[in-house]
Amino acid sequence: MIYYFSGTGNSYAAAKKLAEGLGEDLMDIALAVREGNDTYTLEKGERLGFVFPVYAWAPPKVVIDFVKNLKLYYTGEPYIFAVCTCGSSVGKTMDIFEDALEENGLVLDSGFSVVMPDNCVILFDAETKEKTAQKLEKAEKTLDNILRAIRLNWSGFFRVKRGKGGSLLSTVVNPAFTKGMKPKAFYVTNDCIGCGQCERICTSGCIAVTAGKPVWTEDTCNMCLACINRCPVQAIQYGKKTAKRGRYIHPIYQTGETNK
Ligand SMILES: Cc1cc2nc3c(=O)[nH]c(=O)nc-3n(C[C@H](O)[C@H](O)[C@H](O)COP(=O)(O)O)c2cc1C
Ligand code: SF4
Ligand code: SF4
Repeated sequence: MIYYFSGTGNSYAAAKKLAEGLGEDLMDIALAVREGNDTYTLEKGERLGFVFPVYAWAPPKVVIDFVKNLKLYYTGEPYIFAVCTCGSSVGKTMDIFEDALEENGLVLDSGFSVVMPDNCVILFDAETKEKTAQKLEKAEKTLDNILRAIRLNWSGFFRVKRGKGGSLLSTVVNPAFTKGMKPKAFYVTNDCIGCGQCERICTSGCIAVTAGKPVWTEDTCNMCLACINRCPVQAIQYGKKTAKRGRYIHPIYQTGETNK
């Protein structure tokens, strides 16, 4: 079983490739959380994987909470791996994830990071088409290598791009960053065509399209940025700077494939 969390498709595409290469099933963490599906029984020899994006040099809170609360039944010692997708570097993301697993009595055998296009358009402009294409091509090769390692059940094997000052960023900058990220800064412009896409794809279920316009209803936002990146007419903005910025969606979602 491979559990994944994804806002703009990078982690979904990575998880799907790994699931196909390993012959494992896929499960969307956002959906599992909303449906209260927190129990799984591993078959003998079945691997357990987690694929998720890096948010401010740490795993998304929803992923950490899910892992801590997962009720897992198994015989023997299951092989457990994790893959985080990022725009550039991950700091202590994998250590934080490993600790969360350990709190649930589980041991991480291997961990990897994959650099993919950065979807954080509330902070930076979207990357150029050329850079996006280069990153996606390189990510495919990285995933091929990861597949080889996992197929051989390599244990105690970690290949993550921590970046400079990763420890400080994950422990000091992350809490400040997370506190500053507020769903109330999202708003919709008159360009909205009332298609309902933002409500359908929101990973926390906190958008309700009311009278043809989205309303951010609860303070449970995952800051996955699916809404702002995937609105077909770029009608969603965040603060003052996103109007002039591009948007990012992985090709797997552009072709109409969704995780819903
Ligand atoms: C709120 C937020 C914070 C992010 N922080 C980081 C970061 O610390 N380091 C990094 O390399 N990328 C960061 N990113 C970029 C994403 O990790 C990256 O684009 C990821 O592959 C997106 O995955 P998804 O398409 O599955 O949602 C951040 C993105 C968001 C939305
Ligand atoms: S996805 Fe965009 S156009 Fe569609 S309802 Fe939401 S804001 Fe409006
Ligand atoms: S409101 Fe937007 S950023 Fe927040 S969880 Fe929903 S889709 Fe993600």
